[in-house]
Amino acid sequence: MDSRVRLWQCPAMTTAHAIPSFSFHTTPRIVFSEGAARELAHHLGTTAQDRLLIVTDPGILGLGLAEPAVRSLKNAGADVLIFGEVEADPSLVTLRRSIATALDFGATGVIGFGGGSSLDVAKLTALFAGSGQAIDTAWGVNNAKGPRLPLALIPTTAGTGSEVTPVAIITVGEDEKRGVSSPLNLPDVAVLDPALTTGLPPHITAATGIDAMVHAIESYASKNANNNPMSRNLAVEALRLLGRNIEDAVFNGENRAARSAMLIGSMLAGQAFANSPVAAVHALAYPIGGRFHVPHGLSNALVLPHVLRFNAADAANGSFAHYAALAPHVFPDLDADGESGMQAVCARFIDRLAELSARLGLKSRLRDVGIAETDLPDMAADAMKQTRLLVNNPRDVSEADAYAIYKAAW
Ligand SMILES: [Fe+2]
Repeated sequence: MDSRVRLWQCPAMTTAHAIPSFSFHTTPRIVFSEGAARELAHHLGTTAQDRLLIVTDPGILGLGLAEPAVRSLKNAGADVLIFGEVEADPSLVTLRRSIATALDFGATGVIGFGGGSSLDVAKLTALFAGSGQAIDTAWGVNNAKGPRLPLALIPTTAGTGSEVTPVAIITVGEDEKRGVSSPLNLPDVAVLDPALTTGLPPHITAATGIDAMVHAIESYASKNANNNPMSRNLAVEALRLLGRNIEDAVFNGENRAARSAMLIGSMLAGQAFANSPVAAVHALAYPIGGRFHVPHGLSNALVLPHVLRFNAADAANGSFAHYAALAPHVFPDLDADGESGMQAVCARFIDRLAELSARLGLKSRLRDVGIAETDLPDMAADAMKQTRLLVNNPRDVSEADAYAIYKAAW
């Protein structure tokens, strides 16, 4: 067992233990306010420069969701240009077009407005339009050089937590995902307005909400050396908010209290995993999204119970205790007492998560999303390439293990 995990693994253990060194980065200013987008110029403060590029997607524009925000900026005297071409799994071509638009316009600030894809393109537009660095030299961790343009991020889904994470993911070529991870990608300000999320359809609310819950669960149990008490506390509070509000948000989308809880919960989970990163659920979800274009949240939901069962089956890694500790925060009637109690609660927690996904209307088997049994070996080989995620998993995952997990999920 990893000694770092052992130091905090028992939730009942309150005796003081040495806390390993860690660092924690997050967005320096976070505004939460119902209707905040209508008063965007006020909330941006000094981030509101005079020539602002809004990076968003055609769906947002079609719904007119950004119009009040644009009006607020124009009323405050800003010149505003909209780049509205961001697609799901945004491509390098789209990113280059967005950067060129920012440069042609002479943008002095960038605003990302939308789901994770729009926010990711906005991050990298601000970065590369500001620094002039060649994109190919910036992939990976801490390879980006500043300065970037002032940046504000306004999420319209409650899932990715991108407004507080240092990562931006771009699809290069057919289906290769590349990321730029750097504290420079944290915006100057994140503006959270739950009113922007009330129109999200149930299946997107469900899938993005489960994604946020996975961020919290994987962050809490992460084997990463920077797993830290701040992330774990954020993950617990995130799961409390997400777990107790996701059904209301899905089945009663106009419920502002539930929408607010989901938006805050996804942001807290984002802060958690930005500093204690996610693991095998995400590693095994990527081939499902990349090869079969299944939305990210649903890809995670499809493998979640099977990866957690795999982790918990090996008691030596201690993950069963982490999952048991999280259980009552999501499902208040689940509580553990003693190690055998923890094993039982962990098993029930995993079953209940699978039941929750089904209740929310999410598909539950890989065969339901067009994946054939013969696809599984290639997917397992692909998942092995996600080494940056797999190293954080509480239990080592071999290619045979990945295949077995996919088979169980099929
Ligand atoms: Fe995710």
